[in-house]
Amino acid sequence: MSNAQYDVLVIGAGPAGYVAAIRAAQLGFKVACAEKWLDPQGKPALGGTCLNVGCIPSKALLASSEKFEEAQHHLSDHGIAVAGVAVDVAKMQARKNGIVSRMTKGIEFLFKKNKVDWLKGHARFTGGSAKAWTVAVQDGVGETQVTAAQVIIATGSRARHLPGIAVDNRLICDNEGALALDAVPARLGVIGAGVIGLELGSVWRRLGSKVKVLEALPSFLAACDDGVSKEAARIFRKQGLEIELGVKIDAVQPGKDQVSVHWTNAAGQAQVLEVDRLIVSVGRVPNTEGLGLEAVGLGTDERGFVPVDGHCATAVPGIYAIGDVVRGPMLAHKGEEEGVMVAELIAGQKPHIDYNTIPWVIYTAPEIAWVGQTEQALKAVGREVKTGQFPFMANGRALGMQAADGFVKVIADAQTDEILGVHIIGQNASDLIAEAVVAMEFKAASEDIARICHPHPSLSEVMREAALAVDKRALNM
Ligand code: FAD
Ligand code: NAI
Repeated sequence: MSNAQYDVLVIGAGPAGYVAAIRAAQLGFKVACAEKWLDPQGKPALGGTCLNVGCIPSKALLASSEKFEEAQHHLSDHGIAVAGVAVDVAKMQARKNGIVSRMTKGIEFLFKKNKVDWLKGHARFTGGSAKAWTVAVQDGVGETQVTAAQVIIATGSRARHLPGIAVDNRLICDNEGALALDAVPARLGVIGAGVIGLELGSVWRRLGSKVKVLEALPSFLAACDDGVSKEAARIFRKQGLEIELGVKIDAVQPGKDQVSVHWTNAAGQAQVLEVDRLIVSVGRVPNTEGLGLEAVGLGTDERGFVPVDGHCATAVPGIYAIGDVVRGPMLAHKGEEEGVMVAELIAGQKPHIDYNTIPWVIYTAPEIAWVGQTEQALKAVGREVKTGQFPFMANGRALGMQAADGFVKVIADAQTDEILGVHIIGQNASDLIAEAVVAMEFKAASEDIARICHPHPSLSEVMREAALAVDKRALNM
């Protein structure tokens, strides 16, 4: 048994943890990061959910499936004839796996460059005091004792499963199995029309599956601005995604090579859906099992999160928690921001995060992205707003790119014109939203965006036109 001392110990090397470790090392601390993840070959890997079974592999498959759909259905509109378009799922998966492995090895390199020690194994608090917390890191062989004055919990989250529905990641999949299917299922069922259900449902629909999505809530994409949700539902249904709202899942029966889903529709009628594969994507739960929180006087809240204040400090001095294991959106970039903030706090700096300016993206086609408040949320609290909306259909670049679906909507305060929310459904929304984030961070008015020269022809002109439309003076509509 060995014993090592560090200034900062980070538990978990997902986007929250690995960024916290690198930033702490940049600030001159002696840093270790404990991470237990094993890749499909059983080799230790950094990067957490995001790099291994989340953001990165899903976006690789999204890109591949979009290219397939384009070759099959859209290149002919450009006068390009292609014949014999076929999917090689094994090759597509190998490409995705190659990207994952390149990215996770990249973090290994960054750890070496910044002199962050990677402690391979499961970490659990064993005790200590504010001067030195003690943590045991258990790998397959033995245990390492580590002491650190500052510990950052970044243990992330895992898929929530439903009672009575056993996920085997072959017939019934969570995100891990859904990203690793070795063939295109003819019929795919999805429980939960959230971010994962829509992104991965779209991937397999484009590759040829008949996809049906069963959502418990009566409304579609309730977190989005109402205008965007309506447009998204219209577009996705037109693309062939079947979406049923207000459903109740009664029972799921796996067979030898298919699954029967018994469900009740919004009208109260009993239904059965027979599918070849089923994805369960009903949210995620924080990882705190076996972490030994009780050994340092910590617990979890009623939803399983580690309670923290606005600066990610727990109630115990020297122990912080960041990323998916704490309140707030389960987004990689939110965790990264918290990682940087905590490392800088430990160094005595005064960092701050404005949670209202964290952007959201759903990587469907078209993409959905937003920052700030929705119009319905602002109206619900009695805020007087004015809005401007502009469609991609009226933008030359969008037409050239065959990306005319969707719009940009800017919401501003009725009196001060301060931008309160920007909502985009359209191609490259994930990149376009960055302008709105900058604007909101600088407390810009819609007039500020309206007066900035945007390149022509570009999709970004739609953002400017939407800002102009707030003052009813869009130029191209
Ligand atoms: P995680 O990435 O979950 O990492 C936590 C790490 O801690 C894991 O590696 C785990 O092994 C390790 N760990 C846990 N307990 C211990 C322990 N006791 N000892 C040692 N190690 C431990 N977000 C986006 O912003 N954009 C996207 O496009 C996006 N796409 C997604 C797609 C899918 C399919 C999924 C599932 C998620 C996606 N997310 C996306 C969400 C994103 O992956 C998470 O918000 C992000 O990974 C959270 O980062 P984290 O560092 O808090 O936790
Ligand atoms: P989610 O919270 O986005 O959606 C879950 C959906 O399942 C909800 O609409 C919910 O009403 C529904 N649901 C819950 N219980 C149900 C039931 N019993 N029957 C039917 N429907 C039910 O969760 P999801 O899609 O699993 O993703 C988890 C998280 O991962 C997201 O919230 C997001 O934070 C993150 N993520 C982010 C991505 C991105 O940023 N692009 C991509 C994928 C995931």
